[in-house]
Amino acid sequence: MDKIQSLRGMNDISEAQAEKFLYFLQRCSKIAQKYGHKYISTPILEQTVLFERSVGNSSDIATKEMYRFTDKGHNDVSLRPEGTASIVRHFIEKKIDKAGGVFRFFYYGPMFRYERPQKGRLRQFHQFGCETFGEDSYMEDLNIIDMVVNIFKFFEIPTTLHINSLGCDDCMPSYKKNLLNNISGIKLCDICEKRKITNPIRVFDCKNEKCQEKLQNIDKITDSLCKICQNEFDSLMGSLDSLCIKYIVNKNLVRGLDYYTKTAFEFISGDIGSQNAIAGGGRYNHLVEQLGGEKVSAVGFAIGIERLLELINKPKQDQDIWYIGATNDEALEQLSKIVSKKRSDYIVLTDYKIRSFTKHFNNAIKKSATNIAILNKQELTNGQIWTKDLTNDIEKIVSLSNF
Ligand code: HAM
Repeated sequence: MDKIQSLRGMNDISEAQAEKFLYFLQRCSKIAQKYGHKYISTPILEQTVLFERSVGNSSDIATKEMYRFTDKGHNDVSLRPEGTASIVRHFIEKKIDKAGGVFRFFYYGPMFRYERPQKGRLRQFHQFGCETFGEDSYMEDLNIIDMVVNIFKFFEIPTTLHINSLGCDDCMPSYKKNLLNNISGIKLCDICEKRKITNPIRVFDCKNEKCQEKLQNIDKITDSLCKICQNEFDSLMGSLDSLCIKYIVNKNLVRGLDYYTKTAFEFISGDIGSQNAIAGGGRYNHLVEQLGGEKVSAVGFAIGIERLLELINKPKQDQDIWYIGATNDEALEQLSKIVSKKRSDYIVLTDYKIRSFTKHFNNAIKKSATNIAILNKQELTNGQIWTKDLTNDIEKIVSLSNF
């Protein structure tokens, strides 16, 4: 029979990568909690309209990359391409937007985009993200960026922070009008020609070198910010300086999702190939209202976990791992009870087969145990067990009641 394979661009996470994955999630969740974010989990399947109205009709995600289908109840549904829209949906559905105040969430899980798979670009990938609602101040943008910086610092990942401001309702519409005038006579690639109609600022996101060249001298939104946006952007940069967070102002940074206002940022790595953005985010002050909620400002980020895992080492073992084995029938009978008791304090690995002392010993080493305990006939008769602390090379025979 033909072997069944996983779908293209959808990978299992196993072995060493799984260890890193879990380690990342545990540490990252702790960091997010330190910044006041609370865990939230939303379904991976949502009504398609949620993503169309949030991610935006001009984005590649909404136009080409959604896993979209009609379910048995004739509902138009899609696998989530990102996490922000669902968090906003929850925020409105639970009427949190009406409560007033500041709310912070963190989440992680699989996202789905039907892109052409390549290194660092998957069709199912995982994100870890944080969103803050109800805080207008640029200080929250700083807080969010500072958290990402600290996450990368913790995992010792060198990245470069690119930032930009995409303006607000006062400056963006007039800028877009001027931009259209400025680029209407310039022939760009087919994709950018479409962008001229749907969302002209996305032309700056084009990877086509010819387009980039032609757009080089065109004014960017960063050059046309209103006074308020300019002041906020300056204050953000000043605060980043005072926290010694290095950044590059990238005027071409417009992001691939349509919902951003004011601050936009990406963290870029030089070590993972062409798909080099490890994290992206920014402010989205209109999305809650756009999806039917109150006027509530928001800012957030998401880290691409697979891209990050490429760059971190297997976690150092900071906990004792016991391996317990039995060498005869009588010992095997007692094994479950002894293992179960030890598991109240430790990670315990075992093998429910009678094996020789040497076989158990080698098994324990293979499984990276830090401590070994072997139930032998002789010690068991005296109510004892043989143990070895492999880290310090200390052998002991201890009473089972103290083990
Ligand atoms: P995004 O830039 O589309 O932003 O995605 C965030 C990160 O997810 C990227 O920087 C990248 O590391 C990873 N990523 C994206 N697509 C793929 C893919 N096909 N394969 C592997 N990794 C990928 C968002 O999704 C926004 N929701 C971020 C945000 C939160 N903005 C505000 N709050």
